[in-house]
Amino acid sequence: MTEYFQDRSAIFESERLLKESYTPNDLPEREEQLKRLGLEVLSPVLNDAPPHNAFLYGKPGQGKTAAARFLLEKLQNEVDDRSGVSLTTIFQTCKGHHSSYQVACDLVEQLTGENPNGHPKRTVFARLYNALQDIGGIVVIVLDEVDNIGNKDMILYELPRARDNNHIEDMDVSVIGISNDMTFYDELDPRAKDSLCEVEIHFPPYGADQLRSILNRRSEKAFVDSAVTQEAIALAAALAAQDLGSARQAIRYLYKAGEFAALNDESQVSEEHVREAENHVEQMNIAQSIRDLTTQDQLALLALTSLANESETPASTPEVYSRYTDITSHVETNSIAMRRVRSHLHDLDMIGVVSGAKRSGGSRGGPKYYWELNTDFETTVDVLTEENRFNNVLELIDKP
Ligand SMILES: Nc1ncnc2c1ncn2[C@@H]1O[C@H](COP(=O)(O)OP(=O)(O)OP(=O)(O)O)[C@@H](O)[C@H]1O
Ligand SMILES: [Mg+2]
Repeated sequence: MTEYFQDRSAIFESERLLKESYTPNDLPEREEQLKRLGLEVLSPVLNDAPPHNAFLYGKPGQGKTAAARFLLEKLQNEVDDRSGVSLTTIFQTCKGHHSSYQVACDLVEQLTGENPNGHPKRTVFARLYNALQDIGGIVVIVLDEVDNIGNKDMILYELPRARDNNHIEDMDVSVIGISNDMTFYDELDPRAKDSLCEVEIHFPPYGADQLRSILNRRSEKAFVDSAVTQEAIALAAALAAQDLGSARQAIRYLYKAGEFAALNDESQVSEEHVREAENHVEQMNIAQSIRDLTTQDQLALLALTSLANESETPASTPEVYSRYTDITSHVETNSIAMRRVRSHLHDLDMIGVVSGAKRSGGSRGGPKYYWELNTDFETTVDVLTEENRFNNVLELIDKP
């Protein structure tokens, strides 16, 4: 092996199992949700009737996608063993899609191999219904991350009603929608709610014990025997439980911890590696949230970063604002009023990029907000540098 690669087999038995794409074949922590999905939603299929339409919701990383994949695969196996029922399941992620038009195009492509993008909406839907008609029998369409297409969108009531509206005949289409956006359901168009949400199944956040058992099961197969300590698993579970209760996050911590152990040529993943991993993953998340900020949010953050570089933080809102106007004179952008910059700082505080605290103003009036960076300075500068037009401002930060 050259100096460029490393054999990680002393730590990982089957590293693939730690990837996002892996679907577990056992989800005992979701027994209740799986039972409801099976008994209340899917069971009619075994009797050659279409399943009910359903809506699965809960925060990110709660096993919604995994549960749907797992149970639909099980159902397919059951059906394959019986004659007389024709079941087809179609998984479609709506991630990155902002309308039913795009989702319908993708569905047509999945079914026919041709993407009708660019054709009128009516044509696209006609092709979708034709493709479904060609399949026949019972078709279950899972629209994952369905909140992306917005809650006023027609596909959510059109698809479940395709047969009632004579778009298809002698066959049935049912829809299972999945979402991690809590406001999506509340604001869903009443007609869509009526068709889609015959059964609603909530996936509440995992607790530390559940995350520990998820990690134990996964690590048994993914890691070499005794390469992970119980303490490391307990810590990864506890850290994830305190934060989002997300299994995805817990698995990421453990995977990254394993990678740190491998990089250091150690044969066991320790609590220290988990802490390092958590720190790393959090910095990556923060980096992503900085990338996703609006320009004005980034400018407010840039002002604070520049003050931090000169050890001038915590800084009051007028101090941040003064640096902000210095910066906007270097960057081709309009500047906004102090009141609005303050509101951007509060937004940054909400997502954990900066932190603001009220302090008494001493002789000069009532309490004021003081702001400081809540992120790693280097990461923040690195991410802001990705934005080309901030480069000359960041040079000023390097040389105060
Ligand atoms: N009970 C469980 N047992 C084993 N693995 C699980 C369990 N729950 C979730 N996972 C794993 O955690 C990760 C996240 O789960 P999943 O993708 O199903 O979450 P989700 O609820 O669909 O999240 P999102 O809303 O972000 O799409 C996946 O790798 C999945 O395999
Ligand atoms: Mg999902």
